[in-house]
Parts: sequence; C-alpha cells; structure tokens
Amino acid sequence: MGERCLHNPVLLEEVLHFLNPTPGKIIIDATLGGGGHAEEIVRRICPGGMLIGMDRDSESLRLAHERLKGFQAAVKLVNKNFKDIRETILDLGIGEVDGILFDLGISSIQLDAKERGFGIKQNGPLDMRMDRNQRLTAKDLVNTLSEEELSSLIKDFGEERFYKRIARRIVTQREKGLIETTAELAEIVVRGMPRGRRWQRIHPATRTFQALRIKVNGELAAIEEALNAVPDLLKLGGRLCVISFHSLEDRIAKNMLKKFKSEGIFRILTKKPVTAGDAELSRNPRARSSKLRAGERTA
Ligand SMILES: C[S@@+](CC[C@H](N)C(=O)[O-])C[C@H]1O[C@@H](n2cnc3c(N)ncnc32)[C@H](O)[C@@H]1O
Repeated sequence: MGERCLHNPVLLEEVLHFLNPTPGKIIIDATLGGGGHAEEIVRRICPGGMLIGMDRDSESLRLAHERLKGFQAAVKLVNKNFKDIRETILDLGIGEVDGILFDLGISSIQLDAKERGFGIKQNGPLDMRMDRNQRLTAKDLVNTLSEEELSSLIKDFGEERFYKRIARRIVTQREKGLIETTAELAEIVVRGMPRGRRWQRIHPATRTFQALRIKVNGELAAIEEALNAVPDLLKLGGRLCVISFHSLEDRIAKNMLKKFKSEGIFRILTKKPVTAGDAELSRNPRARSSKLRAGERTA
C-alpha cells in the first residue's frame, strides 16, 4: 500500500540509476509525498535543472516544500491529481521533460497519521482521502454500499478471497449502528474471516483496507490516465519510472509499458520488475512489496 518512511525513499538507488538525473534536466515527480526521492533528484539536476513535484495531498506538499526549501529556484510544486499531468505541465509552460517518476500509493506520513484513517494498526476515523477537499470517505462507502457492491469492491480492489463473508459481516454489523473507525472495521473484517485465517503475517484486514482506499481515491483510473499521457510528455530518450506496491498497480504499469513497446515508441529497461535488496529491506521493511518498472521513449 505504498507505505514508505519519510527519510527512506524506496528503491532510491534504482530510481536514480534509471532516471539518470544530471545537471540541466527537467524531471517530474508525480507523487512527491515527503519529497524523499525529489530531494535526491533535485541535488543532481542542479545547476540548470527543474523538478516539478505533484501531490494531491496538500499536507504532503507542505512538508515537501519545507524539505526542498534549499532548492527553491529549481523546484515547482503543484497540488494536483496526477491524472491531470498533461494539463499541469502545459499550464506551467513546460514542453517535454527528461524523466517522470510515479511512486504509487500512500506515504508513511499519511499512513502514520491516525486522523487520516489509512492505518489498520492505530485507531482513527474511517477517512482514507488523499485529497481532504474531496467529499467521499471510506466511512461513506462502508455504511452505504449494498452488500453486492461491497463484495465486488473487496474482491476486485482487495483481491481478497473471503470477500463475500466480509461484505456480509459489514452489512450485518452496520444494522446495529454506523461503522465509524478503522479499529471497528478491522475487528469486523477479522470476525468475518474463517477462524483459521484470523492470524496471518500481514493483518487480515489489509486487503479490505486496500480496496476501500483505492475506491475512495479513484486510484487505478488515475494511474491509467496519467501513464497514457507519459509518451507525449517525454523527450526522445526520456525515462519513465513506476514504483508500485501491489499487483493491481503493477499490472497497469506492466501493461502500459508493453503497449508503448508494441507501438514502437518505448524500450523497456526492466525485463523483470526491480525489487528491494536485503540491505534496503533490513533498513526499511516497508519496502518489501515495492516493484520498480522503467522504460525509455525511443520514438
Ligand atoms: C508513496 S508516496 C511518495 C513518497 C515519495 N516518493 C517520497 O520519497 O517521499 C505517494 C504519494 O503520492 C500521492 N498520490 C497518490 N496518488 C496520487 C494522485 N493520483 N495524484 C497526485 N498525488 C498522488 C500521495 O498523496 C502520496 O503523498
């Protein structure tokens, strides 16, 4: 679910290798987060380069702004959904760029802020909005979707085997009163699981939480829309890096790169997705599910 530490950008060396930021380059970080990747990129593109940082979460943007204060002249930050990446870059009067990074999902800053309602482990309101100006929250979904809708949501966006049982349990529980908090939902999901499945290496509600977060934020459609715009935005020889955190995101990145290759406009730089090595995993266990795919515009 894209959980990364503020000072620990995931697969950093690998991203730097593929993006190859050097002085004068223009790079878009479409998922700025706490600015971990951005800081290392901007160091390398100065002098003369420009980093455009996007995030739909204004709080993340504010934190990244602090972190990147020393590089103000080389940084432009925009509070936008990356699905609008093409218009955003045009509005800034920038033509083609040398590299684009997507580090998908949520950051540690978001995950660890219990009032944002992303985390299973700490109790907070069932919110899960990346953009807090949006209206729809996870609480709305959990309390208003029909059993069938919940069931398909948990199946399709959570890839959860026990989707029917969990949806049934949610609907039965909410008859007794609104489900309001992450702890209540986590408990309901656990009780919806068969007994033998209630203890797992990852929390048994992880997939259900993932499904709700994806739906609340319209994540998969945004990724597809943004990646579709990439070839128009990259210079010849420009590079794309996508870090995903679960199979639904990774599938979109993989298929999009394949499509660009079959259209004869891209070369794929990662035959297999690149994953974190032992050294990184021991420093940052949250990197365990990350996968990086990269490509280069060739025509
Ligand atoms: C995994 S974090 C990025 C962490 C960052 N690379 C770092 O090193 O600190 C993902 C960030 O992307 C943002 N994000 C996710 N989907 C987005 C979208 N559709 N448009 C803009 N930002 C998005 C989230 O709000 C979050 O801050």
